[in-house]
Amino acid sequence: MKKSLLKKLINKISGHLRFPNANREGPPASYKSVALSDEGIELESYKKYLGGGADMWDLRGKFQLDLLRELGLTHASRLVDIGCGPIRAGRYFIDFLDEGSYCGFDYNVSFIDAARKIVIEEGLSPKGPVLEMIDDFNIDSLNLKNWGEFGIAFSVLNHCNTKSRKAFFNRVLPMFKQGASLVITHAKWWDESFLTPGWEVQVVMRDQQAFGDRLVFHEYGWSEDANPLPIVHFIRK
Ligand SMILES: C[S@@+](CC[C@H](N)C(=O)[O-])C[C@H]1O[C@@H](n2cnc3c(N)ncnc32)[C@H](O)[C@@H]1O
Repeated sequence: MKKSLLKKLINKISGHLRFPNANREGPPASYKSVALSDEGIELESYKKYLGGGADMWDLRGKFQLDLLRELGLTHASRLVDIGCGPIRAGRYFIDFLDEGSYCGFDYNVSFIDAARKIVIEEGLSPKGPVLEMIDDFNIDSLNLKNWGEFGIAFSVLNHCNTKSRKAFFNRVLPMFKQGASLVITHAKWWDESFLTPGWEVQVVMRDQQAFGDRLVFHEYGWSEDANPLPIVHFIRK
């Protein structure tokens, strides 16, 4: 067998082992099924499941805080981090925001376990972040209606199918107050049919120059091929 073919085959098999359902049309079971042992969490093995891995972990987290600050996030804002994962960005958000102002949720229980451990280890517990495991955007149990002033779903809905995206818009958006901002990234799939009443699109950013010198994408390791565009900024009317 040719060397290049063998390499392709190995990549395909290892990709399939990491994300058994990644190539299957249907529910986004790939991230949900990632299960980490305590030792795996201790060794930070969750980092390898997110784009950019351990090498880009800090930069891709910091990018999210800087992005939201550009879009108006202040210390006093209340932020919902939808699909927060092992708080790659959440640790920056929690540190930046006032006490009691961060809520992160995810449908992967190992990621939430990892996130809670990171909060303790990084001395962020006094900020009182809420971190919960929620199935398919079913946030009713969190009782957060009208809570959010800011929301981010960073590289989340691109991993979902249409049914889950609709569940997101129908179930999560009612938690936001009038005037709230919601930011969704990696939104190649986006079209107006997803929009729910009471919301409008402020801007769809498709260009890495969108923020001029204030937020320079390549300084965060983004490239032409790997970047979070399009980014959609919604406002609750
Ligand atoms: C690529 S990771 C991004 C994590 C985090 N937003 C970040 O940028 O570090 C995608 C995350 O979305 C979560 N996710 C995907 N579909 C979800 C769903 N239907 N409900 C809740 N979380 C979901 C995954 O478990 C995973 O943590």
